[in-house]
Amino acid sequence: MTSVQTQPIEGVTTPSPVSPSAAIECVDLCRVYRGKGGETVALDALSLSVEAGSVFGLLGPNGAGKTTTVRILSTLLAPSGGSAAVLGYDVERDTAEVRRHIGLAIGGDRGFYNRLTGRQNLHDFAALAGIAPSQARRRCGDLLDLVRLGDRADEKVERYSRGMKQRLHLARALIARPRVLFLDEPTLGLDPAIAQEFRALVPQLASEGVTVLLTTHYMLEADQLCDELAVIDRGRLVASGAPSAVKARFGDASVVELTVRSAAPDLLDRARALPGVEFAETGADGVFTRLRVFAGEGGDVRDAVLDVCGRDNVEGVTTRSRTLEEAYLALLRVPASR
Ligand SMILES: Nc1ncnc2c1ncn2[C@@H]1O[C@H](COP(=O)(O)OP(=O)(O)OP(=O)(O)O)[C@@H](O)[C@H]1O
Ligand SMILES: [Mg+2]
Repeated sequence: MTSVQTQPIEGVTTPSPVSPSAAIECVDLCRVYRGKGGETVALDALSLSVEAGSVFGLLGPNGAGKTTTVRILSTLLAPSGGSAAVLGYDVERDTAEVRRHIGLAIGGDRGFYNRLTGRQNLHDFAALAGIAPSQARRRCGDLLDLVRLGDRADEKVERYSRGMKQRLHLARALIARPRVLFLDEPTLGLDPAIAQEFRALVPQLASEGVTVLLTTHYMLEADQLCDELAVIDRGRLVASGAPSAVKARFGDASVVELTVRSAAPDLLDRARALPGVEFAETGADGVFTRLRVFAGEGGDVRDAVLDVCGRDNVEGVTTRSRTLEEAYLALLRVPASR
């Protein structure tokens, strides 16, 4: 696979920032959108710190403020309060410096000249980034190979699938060898095989010193890729830390999963009412019913749940730890102020 290097673009001199302690730093960041319908508080005193060379995941439900954060950090949107810095450069005061060092892939269908080929589009972006034509050819070719578009590079973008456009967005974001890369839902709409290939690029970029901040709704992706996560809800931080730390917020909280032959109508209510049970849900499992019971921290509810189901009525039972997705869903069931 082609290597992506992180030297600055030739011919651009870059003053050093004042010894940045983190690649990305937000302090009490606020953003209020004002419109005819009134005010929306999208970010409410959000503070984050992202270590240089790490992969950082921003998670949260729809409307949590993820894209707003990415847009502020990439200087597309001004904050309403607080401050944010990238590589020590303030996003409002040092806009040009921030832009010089970042790559942004917001994705979607827009942002390209559809009548031009993928390669022609990239060449235009290279020219805009001030890359000499003699270098642009090689750089664009390398990036098209990196995102696996090499064999389709000379087709018009209007013929590209969504996943191909998504990959072209990434190539575009990398054109000026950014030191910080923002990816807003990078694998949205990609088929599983392409998404997995795309994910493989992220640690490769990080190993070459690029700091990556990505937003995602896919917990497996966050667990697989991110050194640190921040879960936000309604513009506020709900939890942060390594994926293992976010899971560990639930200590040894376990999940008991049972396959029940014949479920009484009140089974779910009775399971939910058991002491130590935080949440329970049922679903179909072939001709049987699957009962999933989430214990609170330190609780051992296995025997009690078996009794509620009737031991002879249980086809199988397993006890396991929570996945990141389950920890995330549990976090969002509690108020953001906790
Ligand atoms: N241009 C805008 N004008 C008014 N309100 C906006 C605007 N952009 C976003 N918002 C509101 O700000 C809040 C945060 O939106 P944002 O797009 O940052 O969320 P998100 O976490 O990216 O959500 P999603 O997962 O759906 O992409 C939402 O309530 C949204 O409706
Ligand atoms: Mg968004």
